[in-house]
Amino acid sequence: MTWIRRIGPSRPEVEPAGRPQARGRALKGVLPAVVAVALGALTVGLAPTAGAAPVATGSATARTAVSAAEASTLDDLAQAKGRYFGSATDNPELSDAAYTSILGSEFGQITPGNSMKWDTIEPSQGQFNYTKGDAVVSFAKEHGQAVRGHNLVWHNQLPSWVSSLPSSQVQAAMENHITNEATHYKGQVFAWDVVNEPFNDDGTYRTDAFYNAMGKDYIADAFRTAHAADPDAKLYINDYNIEGQGSKADAMYALVSELVADGVPIDGVGFQGHLAVQYGFPYNMQANMQRFADLGLDVSITELDVRMQLPADATKVASQNSYYKQAVDACLGISRCVGITIWDYTDKYSWVPGTFNGEGSACPWDENLQTKEAYDTLYTELGGTTDPGDPGDPGDPGSGALKVQYKNADSAVDDSAIRPTLQLVNTGSSTVDLTDVTVRYWFTADSAAGSFGAWCDYAAVGCASVKPSVQTMAGAVLGADHYLEVSFSSGSLAPGSSTGDIQLRVSKGDWSSFDESDDYSHGSNTTYQDAPEIGTYIGGAVVYGTEP
Ligand code: XIL
Repeated sequence: MTWIRRIGPSRPEVEPAGRPQARGRALKGVLPAVVAVALGALTVGLAPTAGAAPVATGSATARTAVSAAEASTLDDLAQAKGRYFGSATDNPELSDAAYTSILGSEFGQITPGNSMKWDTIEPSQGQFNYTKGDAVVSFAKEHGQAVRGHNLVWHNQLPSWVSSLPSSQVQAAMENHITNEATHYKGQVFAWDVVNEPFNDDGTYRTDAFYNAMGKDYIADAFRTAHAADPDAKLYINDYNIEGQGSKADAMYALVSELVADGVPIDGVGFQGHLAVQYGFPYNMQANMQRFADLGLDVSITELDVRMQLPADATKVASQNSYYKQAVDACLGISRCVGITIWDYTDKYSWVPGTFNGEGSACPWDENLQTKEAYDTLYTELGGTTDPGDPGDPGDPGSGALKVQYKNADSAVDDSAIRPTLQLVNTGSSTVDLTDVTVRYWFTADSAAGSFGAWCDYAAVGCASVKPSVQTMAGAVLGADHYLEVSFSSGSLAPGSSTGDIQLRVSKGDWSSFDESDDYSHGSNTTYQDAPEIGTYIGGAVVYGTEP
């Protein structure tokens, strides 16, 4: 893999409209790299990695590592975790200055929503028009962003001349289209969605012009043709409703396994991620994406949005937050997940209202370009923390100067135990009396259980002083109807010091299984991360974290 150094103007001196102020320091002079080759001549060749998501190597030419604490944008946070965070965009909105101010500063990657599709690029046979696609590429160059090319072969937004061709001419037309477009954008896009949406929802192949002419072999042919035109681009197959396990994902897995086995030049699988709160979160998304990564491929979430039936209400918004959180967790839990792209960042330009009758509010920014709770969720989940004394922000450490860090010691999300490992860190300047401290880890019991057991399995401070118990919440909320509460019978924590590991375990009296994947405090990280979804209290007052 080759990396680029992102170039372009440094970040704006003034926070763009619509973004919360005082959220970390501006990153002056720090130019985080994005995942791959873009921007042609500006490519900086670095040591190839084994194809995994990039990690700063310490080489003089590697990007400056960005710590979450310094970061101020979603992309900065993602970069600190070796990923990009991007948005779709489209030509009409590029003249909206308030919109482009955020588009150009918050995201490290953009995808043209329409302007590289077949009907725009080659509306009649042999007539290629790159004006609109080029405008998106120029915007990206000006703002040091990488571009995902979207897309080369798709049944939709396909001009009628293609579907009207005699079968015998479709292959040549497809190859010509791919060669022309991929050559035009060679060095300008780091990745291509070569084939988009090849499957019906039941996992059968879509019988579009390409399939009708060539059978499923059109897919391998499209990848080989794209590779010949732009050997450095990462070549993806991309689809929706393959995020969770199911027959469509299985069909995609069978196809991709075959392409890999046949030596077809495919580099990645794109999971679009057009989610809707009324349909539930995709089943086992992380495990499902992981099996594709295990084929030796990159994976990414390419078109994330979470729509709902309007009007929005608190329950739908809570689900939306939870879906955004779980999608980020799924990507961060997979080393080969290279990045996340939202399908435009604002409800002002979302495709949802125009496509799904009565639905909307799918994006993390509202129609007035103000951030919504979904933005805060993304920010927190990507590891963002806020400046002390900035009340109301997620994970606000408040005045208590104590925080909790969490790692998951239990890789099974569906067994009879929940096993969080926690440590408390005194980030302030005075000693904290642990007997005043309580910690809450929120979860759902998933089925009626008469009783619970809660144990300290190990604590660096000694389990003798650690008192875990399970409490029932007065009212269930999304992601929580119980919490594990930890208190201490002795001990104190000096400034700058940590309790070290506190390994905890919860089970139900009937030993039935939990489904932890939707638990508010659950995370998939196996090394410590700040955990604002676990509450920390001193004298009963919250000092760190956000209650569900
Ligand atoms: C959508 C665009 O956002 C709309 O503006 C357009 O009218 C239709 O297509 N899956 C894809 C995207 O791969 O190309 C689609 O984009 C959304 C669904």
